[in-house]
Amino acid sequence: MRLVDAYGRQATDLRVSLTDRCNLRCGYCMPPEGLDWLPKPSLLTDDEVLRLVRIGVETLGITEVRYTGGEPLLRRGLPEIVARTTALSPRPEVSLTTNGIGLAKLARPLKDAGLDRVNVSLDTLDRDTFKTLAHRDRLADVLAGLEAAAAAGLTPVKVNAVLLRGVNEHEAVPLLRYCLDRGYELRFIEQMPLDAQHGWTRENMITADETLALLSERFELEPEPSELRGSAPAQAFVVEGARIGIIASVTRPFCGACDRVRLTADGQIRNCLFAREESNLRDAMRAGISDEEIAGRWAASVTAKLPGHGINDPAFLQPDRPMSAIGG
Ligand code: GTP
Ligand code: 5AD
Ligand code: SF4
Repeated sequence: MRLVDAYGRQATDLRVSLTDRCNLRCGYCMPPEGLDWLPKPSLLTDDEVLRLVRIGVETLGITEVRYTGGEPLLRRGLPEIVARTTALSPRPEVSLTTNGIGLAKLARPLKDAGLDRVNVSLDTLDRDTFKTLAHRDRLADVLAGLEAAAAAGLTPVKVNAVLLRGVNEHEAVPLLRYCLDRGYELRFIEQMPLDAQHGWTRENMITADETLALLSERFELEPEPSELRGSAPAQAFVVEGARIGIIASVTRPFCGACDRVRLTADGQIRNCLFAREESNLRDAMRAGISDEEIAGRWAASVTAKLPGHGINDPAFLQPDRPMSAIGG
C-alpha cells in the first residue's frame, strides 16, 4: 500500500510532532502566555509513536521521518525514540526540527542514536531582538546548540529564519554571514498564517522576493538549477560556494510537489499543514485495531488531501490548530 492522493502525489516524508509544548514563544507561532497544552493522556506514548512510524515505514512507503514539536527536545526519551526509528527496516532518514535549546547537551546522544541531521530555528543574532521575538532570553543556548550539532556531525545543519517586518528584516545579511562562516545552510521562510493568535497579515509578511533583494545588496546569489529542488520546499541559491534556500510557501506555493504527511502529538494524521480534517489513529489504536486497518485508515486520509493550502484564495480560513500543535 502507498500513500497516494487524488492528484497523484505520494507521501514519503512523515513529520511527527512529539509535543505541542515549547520553551520559546515566537510571536508568529504562539502568544507570550503560551497555550492550553494537550493533556498528557491524549499524547501518544513512545510505543504508540513507534507503532505508527513502523507501519508508515514498513508498509506505506515512508522513507523520511522528521521529529518536530512544539519543541521536540522537550520530549523525554527522544534519543530512545530516534534509536528505535533508525532501527526500522528499511531504515528511514531521520531528522529533527528544533529551536536548538538543549541541543548543546543532546546533540551527541542523538547522533549516537542514529539521528542524521537537524534544522534549527534562528531568526536573529541580537539578544534584545531575540527577547522581543521569542519572549525568552535564550539566544546563547540556541547558538551553543547549533555549534554542538555541527560538532556532532548532524549535518548538513540547516538554519530556518522567519523575517518579520520592522523586527528582524535588517538581519537577513548578518544571519547569512553568520551561517556562511560556520557552514550552516540558511533558509529564509515566508511567514504563514499558522499562529495561534491569528495575527498574520499579507502586508507584514516579508516575501521571498524582498528577502532576495535584501541579500542581493551584499551577496552574489546564483540560482541552483531547479531540477535539483525535487519536492523540497526550499528554492536553492549558491552564495560563496555554499547553498542557501528560500522557502516561499505563500508567494510560490510548492503544494503540487508535496510529499508530506503529518502525525500530531495526540495521534491525528493530517494530510496537510492546512488540512481541515484529521484522522484519529490514536483512538483507533487504543480501541485495538490491527496494523492493516491502521494502514488503511491512514491511506484513506491521504487520498482526501486537497490540491493546495489555499492561503491565496479569498475564502481562505486558517486551520484551528496552530503550528506548534501540528508540527513544523
Ligand atoms: P529539509 O529541507 O528536508 O531539511 O526539510 P524542511 O525544510 O521540510 O524542514 P523544516 O521542518 O525545517 O521546515 C522548514 C519550513 O518549511 C517550515 O517552517 C515551514 O515553513 C515550511 N514547510 C514545511 N513543511 C511544509 C508543508 O507541508 N507545507 C508548507 N506550505 N510549508 C511547509
Ligand atoms: N510561518 C512560517 N514558519 C513558521 N515556523 C513557525 N511558525 C511559522 C509560521 N507561522 C517555523 C519555525 C521553525 C519551523 C518549524 O517552522 O521558524 O523553523
Ligand atoms: Fe517554539 Fe517553534 Fe513555535 Fe518558536 S516557532 S514558539 S520555537 S514551536
